[in-house]
Amino acid sequence: MTEGSARLAPRRPAKRAARRRPLPYRLDVHVVSSGARAAMAADVRAGLTASPKWLLPKYFYDDRGCELFEAITLLPEYYQTRTELALLRAEAPGIVARHGPTELLELGSGSSHKTRALLDAMRDDGGLRRYLPFDISPGALLAAAGRLAEDYAGVRVRAVAGDFERHLGRIPAPPRGGRRLVAFLGGTVGNLHPAAREPFLRSVRMLLRPEDRLLVGTDLVGDRARIEAAYNDAAGVTAAFNLNLLSVLNAELDGDLDPRRFEHVAFYDADFEWIEMRLRAREAHTARLRALDLAVPFAAGEEVRTELSCKFTRASVERMYADAGLELLEWRTDPRGWFAISLAAPA
Ligand code: SAH
Ligand code: TRP
Repeated sequence: MTEGSARLAPRRPAKRAARRRPLPYRLDVHVVSSGARAAMAADVRAGLTASPKWLLPKYFYDDRGCELFEAITLLPEYYQTRTELALLRAEAPGIVARHGPTELLELGSGSSHKTRALLDAMRDDGGLRRYLPFDISPGALLAAAGRLAEDYAGVRVRAVAGDFERHLGRIPAPPRGGRRLVAFLGGTVGNLHPAAREPFLRSVRMLLRPEDRLLVGTDLVGDRARIEAAYNDAAGVTAAFNLNLLSVLNAELDGDLDPRRFEHVAFYDADFEWIEMRLRAREAHTARLRALDLAVPFAAGEEVRTELSCKFTRASVERMYADAGLELLEWRTDPRGWFAISLAAPA
């Protein structure tokens, strides 16, 4: 993909658009792809020549990966999305009233489905001017941003496709006189390795002025069986999502990794308070990634770590913020204490 911007015309019949002035919405999309393939190649080479082997979860999200993730959010075992949505619906009006955001920047926005709870509260409050979804998947971003721009007429939607670990500097400046709310939902902060979390949150902090706020969704430490089931669903969607990573590598790096030779593994590690997701080789074999000129030998039963999903407590969230120069202002959980949303500001 090449870097560039596009202004998209609204998908409305020409006649209606002509009668309506000004245009019912404004949507523009900026794709940041500087060195995306080279970065992926370097990450995959580092991970598949390491011992033990690892891969990074940001590469799950090609179009098929995004579809599979959306299916995960609807699974009976995956309590997180439903719980966070209910929390957002309950809390968004109060958060908006107390903090007065006029712009919403969302990192890892995906389908932007839950975001509507925030956008609705901001619109009802009268302050909503601009929504900036940011995601590594241009396909998911375009689909979501187009729908939102139609549904929130008058709101400027500025979508940025990029890697939030590398391209936060490309986000447009915050509104003068307005306030920015940065949302990071879905427990995605927990998918960063703790060592990568602090530099990432420090770079997010750079996007915040004193009156701006950060809203983060975190899955909480709790019953092992419930949490493990959320990553081992009966229908096998999570397994398909995990295995799809191999297809992404094959497509991007001209590889021959065979998904039939691997199985999905996910378990809770109570010492680290995280779910670890792996792909386990069913048999000894060697795969090739021709774009890397790399042969990758797998022993029978060898496991590749593909994802972490850290679980938090109020204390560990407070520490996470403090380590990055942020201060916890508000903490809300669902009645069962399964998921939290928290609000932070520069310390
Ligand atoms: N916020 C949505 C989606 C969560 S899934 C929800 O709560 O349901 C994680 C999302 O983050 C995906 O849409 C994925 O494409 C995006 N993502 C993952 N790593 C990313 C990165 N490094 N930079 C930008 N987006 C990333
Ligand atoms: N942020 C989500 C989570 O940690 C992402 C996720 C859900 C996920 N299920 C997954 C990532 C399965 C990889 C595989 O819950």
